[in-house]
Amino acid sequence: MSGRRKITIVGAGATGATAAHLLAARDYADIVLTDIKEGLPQGKALDLNQMGPVLGFEPNITGSNSYEETAGSDVVVITAGLPRSPGMSRDDLVQTNEKIVGSVTKQIVAQSPDCIIVILSNPLDAMCHVSKSVSGFPKERVFGQAGILDTARFRTFIAWETGASVRDVQALVLGGHGDQMVPVVSAATVGGVPLRKLVSEERIQSMVERTAKGGGEIVQLLGTSAWYAPGAAIAEMVDAILLDQKRVLPCTALLEGEYGIDGLYMGVPVKLGTGGIEEIVELDLSDDEREALDRSADAVRDVVGVLSN
Ligand code: LAC
Repeated sequence: MSGRRKITIVGAGATGATAAHLLAARDYADIVLTDIKEGLPQGKALDLNQMGPVLGFEPNITGSNSYEETAGSDVVVITAGLPRSPGMSRDDLVQTNEKIVGSVTKQIVAQSPDCIIVILSNPLDAMCHVSKSVSGFPKERVFGQAGILDTARFRTFIAWETGASVRDVQALVLGGHGDQMVPVVSAATVGGVPLRKLVSEERIQSMVERTAKGGGEIVQLLGTSAWYAPGAAIAEMVDAILLDQKRVLPCTALLEGEYGIDGLYMGVPVKLGTGGIEEIVELDLSDDEREALDRSADAVRDVVGVLSN
């Protein structure tokens, strides 16, 4: 047995495997990849291990169809569930994925009662509610990933529009992970200069819209959901938790009064460290942005209302 930290990734599809790839290359943790499909996690784990000698990391990735190997995980990432196909909204997946995420959570918690759960399955905000309720974990240890991905899309479009490096583009997307998400234009800067000083309102609105529909744009092209940027977003969150980085990152957290919203999972900036969500960061929003956030909350509530539990 190794003395390193342990990460379990449930779902060995493209997103789970991409996250496993990136995290394995970081070389600070052992990784277990699980999936119900026989051979899939074992085959991907074997291939990933064999990347170690070339890229120079210690290969310790295990593939499994059961949960025993996941015992004692520090962080468990749940990507399991059906992905979107063209014409399907994230919300169309709600009933099927509720069953999957509920059953996965139950089995994870039995093996790793002290873990932190990061949800990626869609519809994301609703699946966080499912995992929170099935696990009985405190809200600090059950949360979701969407905001880093949505923000990465917005930052990409801003960088292209302004000809700047993506590294110098700061931005933030809040709200539910659906078409009502809220790219916060007042918080977007390029090298410290507010976006509104650099780009016309019309161009900004077109980037905002492309961001909100960014997942669907890729589904249209590929016939299935994105995985590279989602996988990278997971890796950034897991780093922040296991390396106790205290990063402030947009994540899907259970709000209990913050931003005037109560009892709902939504994307907001949080401080991430060893304890999971250590703080919810409250930004000053413009009136328009606050109204948009309320509309996004209504959209999330509608989907949560469809859950059977
Ligand atoms: C996306 C899916 C994964 O936004 O929700 O690409």
